[in-house]
Amino acid sequence: MQQDMIVIIDLGSEENASLAREIRALGVYSEIHPHDITKDALAALPNVKGIILNGGANRVVDGVEIDASEAVYSSGIPTIAFDHKGADAMPSGEDERKKVLSDFIFNTCKAQANWNMENFINDQIELVRRQVGDGKVLLALSGGVDSSVVAALLIKAIGDKLTCVHVNHGLLRKGEPEQVVEVFGKELGANLVYVDATDRFLDKLAGVADSERKRKIIGAEFIRVFEEEARKLDGISFLAQGTIYPDIIESGTKTAKAVKAHHNVGGLPDDLQFELVEPLKMLFKDEVRACGAALGLPDNMVYRQPFPGPGLGVRCLGAITRDRLEAVRESDAILREEFAKNGLAGKVWQYFTAIPDFRSVGVRDNARCYDWPVIIRAVNTVDAMTASIEEIDYAVLHKVTNRILAEVKGVNRVLYDLSPKPVATIEWE
Ligand code: XMP
Repeated sequence: MQQDMIVIIDLGSEENASLAREIRALGVYSEIHPHDITKDALAALPNVKGIILNGGANRVVDGVEIDASEAVYSSGIPTIAFDHKGADAMPSGEDERKKVLSDFIFNTCKAQANWNMENFINDQIELVRRQVGDGKVLLALSGGVDSSVVAALLIKAIGDKLTCVHVNHGLLRKGEPEQVVEVFGKELGANLVYVDATDRFLDKLAGVADSERKRKIIGAEFIRVFEEEARKLDGISFLAQGTIYPDIIESGTKTAKAVKAHHNVGGLPDDLQFELVEPLKMLFKDEVRACGAALGLPDNMVYRQPFPGPGLGVRCLGAITRDRLEAVRESDAILREEFAKNGLAGKVWQYFTAIPDFRSVGVRDNARCYDWPVIIRAVNTVDAMTASIEEIDYAVLHKVTNRILAEVKGVNRVLYDLSPKPVATIEWE
């Protein structure tokens, strides 16, 4: 293992993740661990150079005072308390805090600033090889950032001991399934099972207008298709997942309640028992992207905007029909192309089109038409909990509108959604 580590002991602070990021920004790897960490668990962590007891304003959780375990105090590893309770006390002021932190890390602990993607990738390759041995690993490769980076890393670590399954549910954006086949199947030479399950998904969704039922059907059918493919493969004992650090932090720690239940592929039947391989589970999202870039994945795969699991299924409003699904896919592709051309792709957090399930009157080629509208949405946000509307140059909107009206079949109006979140949500369903 090549990286030194600073361990943050969680004593109920809400700032554990930001402290970890602060330390990593200084070039030193950092992980958060529970206050009652055992001696063996602590000893098993590689290259621990220092420990920070992070208690925030106090060390009280649910009315009970907590402290770090004896294992921490007797470890002999340099330790500092970053709270108002510990002897060292948290310094006030940004600069002073930074100075204390870097003095502790580099002077007291003598940690090396050797946290970088190259070392991380090499360490993970070694760890994955050790974990997997001669075993075989299965990965559900959606083509999203996290699963793509896991695939690229595992191809490097274990080559054809990895099998990737890409389920095309027919609700992906234009060109996405093709890119997965091109990048992973051809360029990186992965064992790739490509399943075109479009008809299956659309048959199940036919006539279903309720958005939550649509989501449930898509999720359940995804697991069913993936499970069928898994059963066809022999001797798989590991399941790789694109779990990342925020998933783990949000699933709740010993001192913080769960924000959301975390499951990536989740819900596989009990008789399909796999050991998990999660090489990105200690990375924050921007680090996952940097890891993907370092592994040579294309920018439009690594830096892409968030895309919901149910895909275009929740942007083709109401009961999904093939004509409207095609129209939303084509209009979304035009929007993405024009945003990229105009330098907006890296500036706007999320942008897409949605298509409602009502039509309006128009006139085309001197004849009355009765066609669908398309809605453009372009928002900026930090955490997707609230969102503001990006002020897009009118000329860009004009160009997108004209192209959609000229190129997308069955569309006679383009609307721009100006509603912030709240009151509106980012997606329409
Ligand atoms: P809303 O519409 O709730 O969206 O403001 C917030 C963010 O979450 C994404 N989103 C989803 N992601 N499965 C997902 O994986 C879903 O069912 C889903 N619904 C919304 C949405 O794209 C936005 O980034």
